[in-house]
Amino acid sequence: MTKVLMVCLGNICRSPLAEGILRHKAEQNKLSIEVDSAGTAGYHVGEMPDPRSVKKAKEYGIDISMLRGRQFTVSDFNCFDYIYVMDQSNYRDVISLARSNHDKNKVELILNTIYPGKNKNVPDPYYGGESGFENVYRMLEEACEKIIHTI
Ligand code: 4NP
Repeated sequence: MTKVLMVCLGNICRSPLAEGILRHKAEQNKLSIEVDSAGTAGYHVGEMPDPRSVKKAKEYGIDISMLRGRQFTVSDFNCFDYIYVMDQSNYRDVISLARSNHDKNKVELILNTIYPGKNKNVPDPYYGGESGFENVYRMLEEACEKIIHTI
């Protein structure tokens, strides 16, 4: 089974949304994909997603309220086939833990799936308003649609 990990900084805003969207699409397409998410930082370990992410997902019929934050660890390179990071800072943090080119090759900026080679970031919506979450949702929806048809 293909295993996909979504990674952001806190694992409470962007990556739980990405996890929920991709899992939902896998279910809709009757594909057995394992999806998880993690943060490069440990600030929010054990916490539920940000209420604004939970609300945004719910608006689109996706429940992410059961997810809990966890920190990315080097063993995630063993467990997952694809590691999608939200921004270039996440990319650097994850790559710095890679032990080999095999590990490094698993890591990709998630928006490069729809804008190849452009190295665009999914902006961190944590300190902004609600509209930031809609923007993030749309980007992740488009990227996950691409991912589900590629893997
Ligand atoms: P995320 O957003 O990386 O999308 O989960 C953030 C959540 C919390 C913090 C930063 C980003 N923080 O600094 O606590």
